[in-house]
Amino acid sequence: MPFIVKKKISGNDYYYLRQSVRERGKVVSKCLAYLGKNRGEAEKKAKEIMKNIEKNQTILNVKSKKEKTETRIKKDFTPTEISIEELTKFCKSKGFVFRSSDIYGGFAGFWDFGPLGVELFKNIKEGWWNHFVYQKTNMVGIDASVISHPRTWKASGHLQSFKDIAVVCKKCKKATKIDASEEGKVRCECGGEYEKQGEFNLLFKTQVGALDTEEAYLRGETAQAMFMNFKLITQTSRMQLPFGIAQVGKCFRNEIAPRDFLFRSREFHIGEFEFFIHPEEKKCNLLTEQHLSTKFMFLDEETQLQGKNTLKEITIKELLSKKKLGEWHGYWLAEQIMWYRSIGLNEIKIREHTIKELSHYSTATFDIDYEYPFGSKELGGNANRGQYDLEQHQKESKESMEIFDEKTKKKVLPRVIEPTFGMERIFLAILTKAYYYDKKRGNIVLRIPAKLAPVKVSVFPIVKQPEYEKMATEIANDLGEEFNVAYDKRGSIGRRYARNDEIGTPYCVTIDGDSSKNKDTTIRDRDTTKQIRVKISELKEVLKKLIDGKIEFESAGKLIK
Ligand code: GAP
Repeated sequence: MPFIVKKKISGNDYYYLRQSVRERGKVVSKCLAYLGKNRGEAEKKAKEIMKNIEKNQTILNVKSKKEKTETRIKKDFTPTEISIEELTKFCKSKGFVFRSSDIYGGFAGFWDFGPLGVELFKNIKEGWWNHFVYQKTNMVGIDASVISHPRTWKASGHLQSFKDIAVVCKKCKKATKIDASEEGKVRCECGGEYEKQGEFNLLFKTQVGALDTEEAYLRGETAQAMFMNFKLITQTSRMQLPFGIAQVGKCFRNEIAPRDFLFRSREFHIGEFEFFIHPEEKKCNLLTEQHLSTKFMFLDEETQLQGKNTLKEITIKELLSKKKLGEWHGYWLAEQIMWYRSIGLNEIKIREHTIKELSHYSTATFDIDYEYPFGSKELGGNANRGQYDLEQHQKESKESMEIFDEKTKKKVLPRVIEPTFGMERIFLAILTKAYYYDKKRGNIVLRIPAKLAPVKVSVFPIVKQPEYEKMATEIANDLGEEFNVAYDKRGSIGRRYARNDEIGTPYCVTIDGDSSKNKDTTIRDRDTTKQIRVKISELKEVLKKLIDGKIEFESAGKLIK
């Protein structure tokens, strides 16, 4: 159990959160966090940290059970490699994603989410919001307009610097884009040299108004609205440094060569938050041992400059000691890694940006990469934006962006850490990871984590007879108050199970011959095909716990042998 310790240094009181742990047979006391100089505040901070530790412990306990199930499942399944073209076809055939304007042959770089895709995408965005906004007391959300004052983009530097270089391969004639740092250094996959076609700004232009038209831009990132609203939020939401503003929404980039399905499109969603910190606050009081010991595969700048891409396993603590980043930056990188892992994307890697690649606003950036069917590519990022954006808006608008800091009793211009997430790229990663072909069953099984699955429960009457159908519809209606439920009475029961495996429904509920007599139903588990019997009166609660990963399937009811 962690405890608070007061230390007197040069006559001043300093509070710390410590914990006794057993190390090599000895009990030693370890510091978990610095809590500040004031007893009352220290107790408040300690409470928050301990709440987080307890929550993480519960997650870990459930996780360790889940890991056992995972290992068992891995023996029976092998993930099926799927090319991006096959995935695009699969998504169309099941109603996940369609080409935009399909009847006109599609429109490059634009996609529509179908009935299943919209649910999966909504669950990813809601899960993100729940984790980073609802579960953090230091974060608030906004939903800003897609078109903002054109001076936004002048101030942010996007009009000047948000450019890509268009190139065409001299050999295979494929068009693509490269960054300025890659000019003259990279070749096409076919080995051909690139010919430069010109530099293009990625912002989409539009016109506002009918008579006195004004040229404006669709937003290229959501971040600028967080900077522009920063001061209003401190005034209206009573937020004090350090705190964050989060947003998830549409962004538009006129990509030179949209490709790889949703991976590089012209209209997509970014989830990101700007975390504002006192410019002199270097210590992060939320950094726990769990953050520091977070391990991941890392590709550093030095290795890349030697032309290699060898990854090394490293921890946040080691990155801090190598001075690759500061404490707040490290804290948020660890938080991002933990969230990706909580939705099953365990295979993420971190890549440090080389100095030449850094965006115009960043002094240190890390990409979070994922192994897609077309290679290891960026899923999200984490940038140290410093005071760049607030300073730029201050200059352009002539409005002070400084706020009064209660602790130091001074006006300050905060610095910013920005964790960013490509929402469609997460959607793609979830789908590629979930795609299995089960030879024994003879069908695809989409092993999407239950929390994210588009349809949570499918309810079937075993046969098309009024008494079964009546019971099944009543159950489906009741469960529908809680989850996205499907009702399916068509085809053999085997075909109905297969249909649901293919769209990732984690649980199927069947009303069978015993249901009426015993007031119970069967629940079938997508991944193991095992079945249990559960009382109808308990069904909703049991399914809720299963979906939240709070109980093991086999202990949730009477196992059918
Ligand atoms: N505010 C920081 C920012 O916008 P970014 O790396 O340019 O950073 C954020 O974009 C994330 O958006 C990327 O990490 C990536 O996952 C996603 N993204 C960028 N361009 C994209 C595109 N054309 N299509 C789909 N996702 C894209």
